[in-house]
Amino acid sequence: MSVQGSWSGKFAFILAATGSAVGLGNIWKFPYITGENGGGAFVLVYLLCIAAIGIPIMMAEIMLGRRGHQNPVNTMEKLAREEGASSAWKLVGWMGVFAGIMIFSYYSVIAGWALSYFADALRGVFSGITAEGAGKHFNTLLGSWPSLLAWHTLFALMTILIVARGVRGGLEKAVSIMMPALFVMLILMVGYAMGNGEFMKGVHFLFSPDFSKLSGAAVLTAMGHAFFTLSLGMGAIMAYGAYLPKNVSIGATTITIAIADTVVALLAGLAIFPIVFSHGLEAGSGPGLIFTTLPIAFGDMPYSSLFASIFFLLLVFAALSSAISLIEPAVARITEKTAMSRGGATFLVGGFSWLLGIGSILSFNMLSEHKLAGKTFFDWMDYLTSNIMLPLGGLFIAIFAGWVMSRKSSGDELSLSGFSYSLWLFLTRFVAPLAVLIVLLKVSGVLDTLFI
Ligand code: TRP
Repeated sequence: MSVQGSWSGKFAFILAATGSAVGLGNIWKFPYITGENGGGAFVLVYLLCIAAIGIPIMMAEIMLGRRGHQNPVNTMEKLAREEGASSAWKLVGWMGVFAGIMIFSYYSVIAGWALSYFADALRGVFSGITAEGAGKHFNTLLGSWPSLLAWHTLFALMTILIVARGVRGGLEKAVSIMMPALFVMLILMVGYAMGNGEFMKGVHFLFSPDFSKLSGAAVLTAMGHAFFTLSLGMGAIMAYGAYLPKNVSIGATTITIAIADTVVALLAGLAIFPIVFSHGLEAGSGPGLIFTTLPIAFGDMPYSSLFASIFFLLLVFAALSSAISLIEPAVARITEKTAMSRGGATFLVGGFSWLLGIGSILSFNMLSEHKLAGKTFFDWMDYLTSNIMLPLGGLFIAIFAGWVMSRKSSGDELSLSGFSYSLWLFLTRFVAPLAVLIVLLKVSGVLDTLFI
């Protein structure tokens, strides 16, 4: 049961955890689900979920990970034993292992789109492109399963190679340059949107809530996305927490990560919606949103190919630093429990997930009309993980940290006392679990049958 090294310090942990949090969720998913769910009110619920559910649960995950110091399955088992609770708590770890594999399967497909756009940008495809041309370009890519498969395979291989080399495999350093660069790029894009798009319409869409547009399903999506974007509910952050030095403040670290993650998502929204409105595009057009809007902006800028290639390359890096945390728990579990090498375990997990990804690829072309209850295979993978497995994982993690763990254990590990500890405990014991429970029950219709 060896643990591969320890983070070189607080900064390295923040980088890795931010690397995990900031990814396609912020730049690809947040804008498109915001567009599909009507904007402002959805964004507000999402922000509330980050503050009241995401932050306390992230603290809980890091705390459990640092205390358990192993993969999420063993960590849950060990801590449950320590507190005299049932070893069934390890099932939370198992659910996370599977959620990670399922998310990676489609995450790699979408990251493949970014890779393909990087290659297109290098060839100058976006220079001077019109809104219509950008839409066509995207549909051509989606329609070709062999291209999607090739890019998905390339991205999955890149992730597998990095994970196989271990936690410190150089990505840490790359992220410390790529993240700030991505941030600067986004600011630039927002600047373009201010000068050339319907900027105020975009701001209005994102920030002025109209609750009549907010369905129960939208609330679930907003909550699910709070878990997704912060990498919570499946043990990814728990696995990273195992490498966090003892003297680092979990609360301050968590807040830093949550703010960085949220700012990136909002910037992406501010860069995209003004273009959507100035070109008469559809805000709710779905997963292709950034791929049909951002090229228009790049195409219109001087040095369009240069800027577009840099942007899509940075997006691929952001996706990579997230993707590694999706398969890390499964890999850690296998290497800590069996004789298999890290390389072997990574190829096994990554390979299985890659295979599952083919289902998502076909959802965009050959099987796009094959729906179950209105959802394609890709839709189901995303729905089951983001809207069900992550919130359930988070619910159990909150219950464990808030109720099963003694106050002494959690207070010591968080090194919190007084008001800040009470606030965390209140959010973790009551607010987070109840909010998750109510939303899940409401959407599944159970609450309605109980006449509430
Ligand atoms: N948070 C990442 C993003 O927004 C995706 C991700 C990485 C993730 N690791 C995770 C989501 C663990 C849920 C659980 O792109």
